[in-house]
Amino acid sequence: MTILGIETSCDETAAAVYSDHGLQSNVIASQQAHETYGGVVPELASRNHEKKIIPTVNQALQEAGCGVRDLDAIAVTRGPGLMGSLLVGLCFAKGLAMRLDLPLIGVDHIEAHAYANFIEHRPTFPLVCLIVSGGHTQLMYIDAPFSHTLLGKTRDDAAGEACDKTGKMLELPYPAGPEMDRLAARGDPERFSFPRAMMDDNLEFSFSGLKTAVRYHLQNVAGDEREAYLQANKEDLAAGVMHAITDVLVHKLEKAVRQCGVRQVIIAGGVSANSMLRRKVNAMAGRNNLSLHLPSPVYCTDNAAMIAVTGHMMGRQGRFTDLSVKPYTRMPESAPAS
Ligand code: KG4
Ligand code: ZN
Repeated sequence: MTILGIETSCDETAAAVYSDHGLQSNVIASQQAHETYGGVVPELASRNHEKKIIPTVNQALQEAGCGVRDLDAIAVTRGPGLMGSLLVGLCFAKGLAMRLDLPLIGVDHIEAHAYANFIEHRPTFPLVCLIVSGGHTQLMYIDAPFSHTLLGKTRDDAAGEACDKTGKMLELPYPAGPEMDRLAARGDPERFSFPRAMMDDNLEFSFSGLKTAVRYHLQNVAGDEREAYLQANKEDLAAGVMHAITDVLVHKLEKAVRQCGVRQVIIAGGVSANSMLRRKVNAMAGRNNLSLHLPSPVYCTDNAAMIAVTGHMMGRQGRFTDLSVKPYTRMPESAPAS
């Protein structure tokens, strides 16, 4: 099976080809238009997707050395994401599927982050997956492909959102996560202590208190000297914030693994590219004698390879999607298992 994967849920226009021989191409056109606004502007995002989708898909096919006639199905992100952005990718995919008389595969973006691990590795089931992206933070028990149980999720901000919002207070450009990672690597993570919420509770997360603590810290300690204080302490502040976020993530992941009694762990989503998190998860896996898979950073952040590989797995199970499907902006609700 040869699958074209298309991803347009937020501000990356991406296309990839995945076949029985693995990933054949992976093209990402990132949008620069949002930088000046400090966040993604939905209307600009969808207009940009419209401009870029055809050249991006063409490039993915060309780099894979195949034409549309070599495809067996079209996989596309259905949600969650920005409505206008999702519509561009989904309508394009539907049109192409109709024109070529190919089946459509509607892929969930969050599930696809988890299955990105299958691009380079062969994780075995059952497993526990920590998904940490800009909009979602959740722990999932996966006992077989596409058989998921939600163990816990964030009650407020996602881990990526916490990185981005605290990074904004440190005057870093959006999205601040990658720069927080770089600064933290040069800082002292023990100098400032920021809160780690709900450590003794269930497998739910909360990161909004951390954001407030950083705001108060800058108001109280830095005061009028804020600018000079930031310049002198940015690295230690970023290290303190990342230390707190990753402590919570790894603590809950370890708890989930013990609770589910699994030996296989994977992590996924943009924040799983974070070097401190990867180091701590590695150490946790070593302590518990677990088999751990980490996607390469390029497959952690949004990409179409994850849509194509998930589409390939779904296609092999005959999980095709009707051409009348609609996109969805939020994850379908399901109750946490604990
Ligand atoms: O999965 P993703 O690319 O998009 C969503 O589906 O949301 O995740 C984006 C998030 C952003 O919050 C970004 O700041 C964060 O991932 N991120 C990082 C790193 N790279 C991306 N956070 C911490 N360290 C990184 N190296
Ligand atoms: Zn994502």
